[in-house]
Amino acid sequence: MIASLSDMAGTFEIAGKKVARLGFGAMRLTGLGVWGEPEDRQECVRVVRRAVELGVQLIDTADSYGPSVSEEIIREAIHPCPDDVLIATKAGLTRNGPDVLRTNGKLVRLGPAAWPPVGRPEYLRQQALMSLRRLGVDHIDLFQLHRVDPKVPLEDQVGELKRLQDEGTILAIGLSQVTIDQVERARTVAAIATVQNRYNLTDRRSADVLEYCTRHGIGFIPWAPVAAGELARSGGPVDRIAAAHGTSPSQVALAWLLARSEVVLPIPGTSRVTHLEDNLSAATLVLSDAEIDELTAAA
Ligand SMILES: NC(=O)c1ccc[n+]([C@@H]2O[C@H](COP(=O)([O-])OP(=O)(O)OC[C@H]3O[C@@H](n4cnc5c(N)ncnc54)[C@H](OP(=O)(O)O)[C@@H]3O)[C@@H](O)[C@H]2O)c1
Repeated sequence: MIASLSDMAGTFEIAGKKVARLGFGAMRLTGLGVWGEPEDRQECVRVVRRAVELGVQLIDTADSYGPSVSEEIIREAIHPCPDDVLIATKAGLTRNGPDVLRTNGKLVRLGPAAWPPVGRPEYLRQQALMSLRRLGVDHIDLFQLHRVDPKVPLEDQVGELKRLQDEGTILAIGLSQVTIDQVERARTVAAIATVQNRYNLTDRRSADVLEYCTRHGIGFIPWAPVAAGELARSGGPVDRIAAAHGTSPSQVALAWLLARSEVVLPIPGTSRVTHLEDNLSAATLVLSDAEIDELTAAA
């Protein structure tokens, strides 16, 4: 389907590896509410194998997805990890249950309450060691602080990641859901390779952080990248542009993100091979300047 994902999407270097800018987010390889086993584990294993077959070189996961389940499925699918594939994991969020509950047939979203942050240095260290074991690797290419824990000085949290890096347990350090001020404080302690914030067609609250990352050559990993919300309604700009190219709204959302900046590395998440293939085809979709401008203005 795709000649070379890295040729089409471009590459970005993290921890000495050049990875295709279109990656894969492995949060959806879990049960409802990012909790427990997925409905179809074998399909999830196929998704990860197919992603790598199609040229994905950046797989994003976290200790808290499942917890543990996402990392275990990645190991089952691709262990030993191919040299040109970078697995990025995270620590710093704990879980107290699913973040979505089915109550009287309705889905109730609990949101951040289901993901309490814990940034104590000894906990971050333990989780890095546990991720090593679950992934079956001898080092973690990119280790991301999932959230800054407000109860612990930021410098202590990043300081522990720096110690893990100096020891060779992790190669590069990333942050997640941070402000420019927090990135700057973290950079006084360690080199920051990537920032992972929520950013997509409908949520531009991290536009300033993206601009900062572009200026400083820091990888920007937008999460929830295929969300298009109202813009994808029938007759809306995403819907019209997708129809004009004979493609899907997800591809339009991803192609727009790739065009935002050369430091952007979207990690669309799915538990289905068909959706994975659809998302990766976004690398072949070239939007015109006018289409990009229309989408940018449509926030
Ligand atoms: N740093 C953080 O705090 C944070 C927070 C959330 C997520 N993340 C990371 O970001 C990744 C992506 O975020 P996300 O999974 O929330 O959002 P997403 O990738 O924007 O969307 C995933 C959702 O869209 C569906 N989907 C995906 N591709 C589709 C397609 N082509 N057509 C129709 N539906 C499609 C998926 O369902 P199906 O499974 O049915 O395809 C899933 O429900 C995660 O996997 C995770 O690695 C990070």
